[in-house]
Amino acid sequence: MARRKKIYEGKAKTLYEGPEPGTIVQYFKDDATAFNAEKHDIIEGKGVLNNILSEFFMLGLGQIGVPTHFLKRLNMREQLVRSCEIVPLEVIVRNYAAGSMSKRLGIDEGTQLPRPIVEYCYKDDALGDPLVSEEHIAAFGWASQQDMDDILSLALRVNDFLSGVFLAVGIRLVDFKIEIGRVYEGDFQRLVVADEISPDSCRLWDIKTGQKLDKDVFRRDLGSLTDAYSEVARRLGVMPNNPPTPGKPTLVN
Ligand code: TMP
Ligand code: ASP
Repeated sequence: MARRKKIYEGKAKTLYEGPEPGTIVQYFKDDATAFNAEKHDIIEGKGVLNNILSEFFMLGLGQIGVPTHFLKRLNMREQLVRSCEIVPLEVIVRNYAAGSMSKRLGIDEGTQLPRPIVEYCYKDDALGDPLVSEEHIAAFGWASQQDMDDILSLALRVNDFLSGVFLAVGIRLVDFKIEIGRVYEGDFQRLVVADEISPDSCRLWDIKTGQKLDKDVFRRDLGSLTDAYSEVARRLGVMPNNPPTPGKPTLVN
């Protein structure tokens, strides 16, 4: 079999050229990083869980008419996605104060916000993904005003969808980050939700106990990340029923 062409290797995923033009294979690695990769570890099984969870959320979004780059899951670690041009912004939606917002503004973690707050960070690892305003985005041409209107509307729809899905299984969606891709169709461009949606890119707290079920478990050394992500998958009913054993072939359902 011919070796696939690697397009890009990120911190948690590797992208390969897909089988058809305009497609990409997204491979989920077991690497966990935090603080701009200052902290790094391999968490066995994380890639499998994020692949399945991201598929679940992207399919759900598709079902309510939110366009995404997702095409289909190929196996335990890979999914086929539409190739798109990534808007160089991390779009963060916050329902409760936490993380960098709590630090920046001195608001206790867990404080409910008066309404969802959307923030934008410029995607640049060397700069540590700095927070930017819509003024920066417009002035530097990272996205047009029309794009920004569409991005805001997508972000809020994703927030409503994810908040509801998590609430139904006793999890509070504190905040999350999405990335947006541009897809070209003839003379038109469309914005789609791209990258991944997983406990790596969300803050998820158990509603009753406040237990953290997201990457903060790794960032803050709070226990087993695999246990936390497995709990999310289990509650959502998407726990892979053939957890991969290293070295053994695994059935894909
Ligand atoms: P923050 O409070 O650190 O700014 O994070 C806000 C949300 O964005 C949180 O759900 C975690 C997510 N996030 C990422 O997905 N990637 C990142 O690089 C960072 C810093 C945060
Ligand atoms: N993903 C980022 C990193 O590795 C930061 C984070 O999620 O905390 O560095």
